[in-house]
Amino acid sequence: MGKEEKMKKLEEKIRACRKCPLGSLRTNAVPGAGSYDSKVMFVGEAPGYWEDQKGLPFVGRAGKLLDELLSEIGLSREDVYITNIVKCRPPENRDPTEEEIKACSPYLDMQIDIIRPKVIVPLGRHSMAYIMKKFGFSPGPISKIHGRVFEARTLFGKIVIMPIYHPAAALYRPPLREELRRDFSRLRKLLGDCL
Ligand code: SF4
Ligand code: URA
Repeated sequence: MGKEEKMKKLEEKIRACRKCPLGSLRTNAVPGAGSYDSKVMFVGEAPGYWEDQKGLPFVGRAGKLLDELLSEIGLSREDVYITNIVKCRPPENRDPTEEEIKACSPYLDMQIDIIRPKVIVPLGRHSMAYIMKKFGFSPGPISKIHGRVFEARTLFGKIVIMPIYHPAAALYRPPLREELRRDFSRLRKLLGDCL
């Protein structure tokens, strides 16, 4: 089976999933979107209101900021793959629980195995904590480790992890926008080195 076929099958499975209580609360599951051949994968937290309405990741205000940051480094959504740790919207946009992350994260693991990105960019602390642990690093405070590069060895080669602030955080704390911009320019350089 090729990448495309594997991902389509997985997306269907996610859309029909009821492994945790969020499954019965959603309008649409949000498996992820973008290029299956991308070298870079962004991992957010969970869908919000608009993502749940449309079935697509990062289509609300945080998504608009993400689009801007991408375009400032010459990338569009079609060049990258964007998903979340949890694929259905938690009520009132609360943080996903440990149980929900546990139930849903195998889908993210499968997406990583299929896409085999060279760089993973966790957005915000939940995603950072999950990805760092998955690749054998201890998670630190996002304020300390954002923009830093962690190199892991996997069965399919080297993978680089660069956690950054969640774009939604920068909507509420404008000084974080500049931090995000700086981290995106680091990412551009990293992609230049890795690709
Ligand atoms: Fe399934 Fe994940 Fe949705 Fe829970 S959040 S129902 S585990 S797809
Ligand atoms: N925030 C997230 O973490 N993910 C989305 O898809 C949208 C907002």
